Amino acid sequence: MKIAIVGATGEVGRMMMTCLEEQNLQPEILDLYASVKSVGTMLYYMDKPLEVKELEEESLQTEYDYVFFSAGGGVARSYAPIAAEAGAVVIDNSSAFRTDPRIPLVVPQINSSLLKNYRGIVANPNCSTIQMVLPLAVLDKAFGMKKVVVSTYQAVSGSGHGGIDTLEKQRRGSQVKGIYPDIIDLNVIPQIGVFLDNGYSNEEEKMLSETRKILDNDKIQVSATAVRVPVMYGHSNTVYAEFEREIDLQTAASLLSDAPAISFHENSYITPLGIGSSNDAHVCRLRYGVDKYSLNFWNVGHNVRIGAAANAVNILMAHHDINPKS
Ligand SMILES: NC(=O)c1ccc[n+]([C@@H]2O[C@H](COP(=O)([O-])OP(=O)(O)OC[C@H]3O[C@@H](n4cnc5c(N)ncnc54)[C@H](OP(=O)(O)O)[C@@H]3O)[C@@H](O)[C@H]2O)c1
Repeated sequence: MKIAIVGATGEVGRMMMTCLEEQNLQPEILDLYASVKSVGTMLYYMDKPLEVKELEEESLQTEYDYVFFSAGGGVARSYAPIAAEAGAVVIDNSSAFRTDPRIPLVVPQINSSLLKNYRGIVANPNCSTIQMVLPLAVLDKAFGMKKVVVSTYQAVSGSGHGGIDTLEKQRRGSQVKGIYPDIIDLNVIPQIGVFLDNGYSNEEEKMLSETRKILDNDKIQVSATAVRVPVMYGHSNTVYAEFEREIDLQTAASLLSDAPAISFHENSYITPLGIGSSNDAHVCRLRYGVDKYSLNFWNVGHNVRIGAAANAVNILMAHHDINPKS
């Protein structure tokens, strides 16, 4: 298998290499691309040194089987079509193609059927959405979901290197805002992305459009509030959801316990620090909402793993018909 990673030096790119290693994939070619400033950087895949190259148009005219993109929307819009045109299946972590009706938006545990015989660009969903939609898909199937109200508590690594660097500097005493609109250390910021005319931020809007697209149901209502918190890794969501059918709490709990890629915690709760290097969406504090037709739960996931790299690698595995190791 011939693989390339564009944005290999970033948070998601490096984690993509880790996730490929964890699946014991041994590509015959693994090419790493980043911006000119990273040229010559050495990264290691299964102890083999690989030199990072500058991304250029010709780079992607090679016949790759899979090209992962994790270099932002601008790079994806310019270069992903070139890789797809050359015959690769492109798995893009940015939001560039997610709302395009021609492009599948895939969480393999939910809609891997979209990958069958598909070639071209595949979009990897937003990080908070993936970890939320995994349990919601299970509950939707059982009880028919109508409405979701979610608040997010998103780690700074969700903004890549720049977010980590900003929080680290502020923890050492800097009062420079860095990449955020306010100081993030010892604070929370109720803005992720830019505000739209309707008062929601574009991050919040993604949770609506992407949930509908992944669950293939335009009637589901989603209202999100996205908040940045001074956590390094691991996004959390408080999720309230309403359903068509009456819910038996024990049935909901067992369905979540049995579902792939979900860790259900029945009598305890988990925090972002507690999830370690888990690739699962964690669900705990499951309880009724306002009545027996609604549920509340606490949902934690590693934003760089299940929110990006692990889902992207799972897309490759599903497309290639390989069962991923859990
Ligand atoms: N972090 C997350 O939790 C997360 C979750 C879901 C989705 N995503 C998405 O994944 C993408 C990457 O995020 P990240 O967190 O990994 O960001 P990051 O840590 O800032 O890394 C960005 C990567 O893009 C590369 N890059 C930037 N400009 C480039 C150019 N002109 N040509 C080639 N490479 C270029 C960088 O290379 P240099 O090192 O050379 O600058 C670096 O490898 C973004 O679209 C982000 O929205 C991130």
